[in-house]
Formats: sequence, C-alpha cells, structure tokens
Amino acid sequence: MSAFTEANRKAFNDLSATYNTKPWQHKISQQVSDALQQRRDWLGVAWTQPDNDDDKSRDVRLLDYACGTGATTKALGPSVTTIRGIDISESMVAKYNEAALSSGLTTEQAHAVAGDLFATPVAPQLSGPEFQFFDIAVIGLGFHHFEDPALAIKRLAERLKPETGVLSRGNNINTSTSTATATKTPTAREKVERQKWRTRSSTRVSRAKEWRSSSRTAG
Ligand SMILES: C[S@@+](CC[C@H](N)C(=O)[O-])C[C@H]1O[C@@H](n2cnc3c(N)ncnc32)[C@H](O)[C@@H]1O
Repeated sequence: MSAFTEANRKAFNDLSATYNTKPWQHKISQQVSDALQQRRDWLGVAWTQPDNDDDKSRDVRLLDYACGTGATTKALGPSVTTIRGIDISESMVAKYNEAALSSGLTTEQAHAVAGDLFATPVAPQLSGPEFQFFDIAVIGLGFHHFEDPALAIKRLAERLKPETGVLSRGNNINTSTSTATATKTPTAREKVERQKWRTRSSTRVSRAKEWRSSSRTAG
C-alpha cells in the first residue's frame, strides 16, 4: 500500500468512531443522499421495481466504493438487490457492516470488505465474481481521497457490467452531486448538467476535465 493510501487508512480508522456523530456530517450525508435519489433516473440504471412481480428475479448490483459507514448504500439500497462495499479503512468497514445488519439487510444483500481496488496487484479476495458485474459503482464523498484519479476510474469501470454499467461519484461541493457515466455517450441533458457543473468553480472545472478525460479512457 502506498504511503498516501496508508495515511488515508489510518486517518479514517481514527475518524470512524465519530464519523456520523456531528450535525454537519449528517447534513452533508443527507445532501448527497437527496441528490443521489433525485438523480436516480438520470443515472440510467435499470433499478428494481419492488411492486413488479416479474422483476423479483433480477439482480441489480451496486458497488459502494469507499463506502465508509454506508451513506450511499442507505440512499440507493431500496433501488437495488445486491450491494458490495469496499473501503480502505477496516474500522469504517466494521461500522458499515454493523449498520447494514441492524437495518435488516442480510450479509448476502449488503456486505463490505476492507480493500483497495487501486493497488497493484489487486488482492485476490476482490478478484472473484462477487466484486464484478455491477450495474452501478458509486463513490460517495471519496473521489478526492484517491491518489491517482485516472487509475481509479479505469479500475472501477472494469468492475461494471459491460455496455450498461454506470460509474458515479457524489460530492458535496455547492451541495450538489456530480455524476458522470463512464460507459455511455453523454445525452443532451447530461451535457447541460456537466456544463453547469463546470462553471461553478475553477477547482471543479479542473476536476471535471480530469473526470471526462479519464472516463473517455475508461470507455
Ligand atoms: C469522506 S469518507 C466517505 C464515506 C462514504 N462514502 C460517505 O459518503 O459517507 C471517504 C472514504 O474513502 C475511503 N478511502 C480513501 N481512500 C480509499 C481507497 N484508495 N480505496 C478505498 N477507500 C478509500 C476512506 O477510508 C473513507 O471511508
């Protein structure tokens, strides 16, 4: 593990006990959750439809990457059938799994493990089918912690269902969630959304360029 990633692991292990305790943390988490839910249709995933009997056998898979204590899982959990979380911090993973179980989800439905998809080589426990073929991979409030954003997009895109999988990152800058698909040509609406996103601040402009260019590379 690189020194950068190890520093993140230690920092988030230390933060895990208090991660969800302060009002501002709840506020940010709620903002991201609301934004994800509001843009659910725009994300273009064939979400589950609990009222449709024919839909019950379909597995809709979410990768909650850098899952922390599970904010993304809480936001999108009702729209999918299987969730796998990965986080560099084993203490965050422990909190995630406690929260998932206490919210009534089985381990088969939602479970997180400690790991780093950006390591070379990737650990064998992350290489099996359980951690492949996702309909959507979401990085909630985590992308800015990654050492090599282009590698991160490439590695995450490799975990998606071919042709249909979607990669999305959520952040709280200006209380919005920024999303981009890694596997599809942007629609007119996506282009408008990205244009709005680009004009918000110079930091965001540079990150958007990085994201678009890396997304193109990832296919
Ligand atoms: C600000 S927290 C966000 C947690 C959660 N997604 C949320 O929305 O509340 C960032 C998370 O990224 C994780 N992280 C940082 N670098 C990582 C890496 N290379 N691979 C996996 N997780 C990482 C940290 O351990 C931490 O749990």
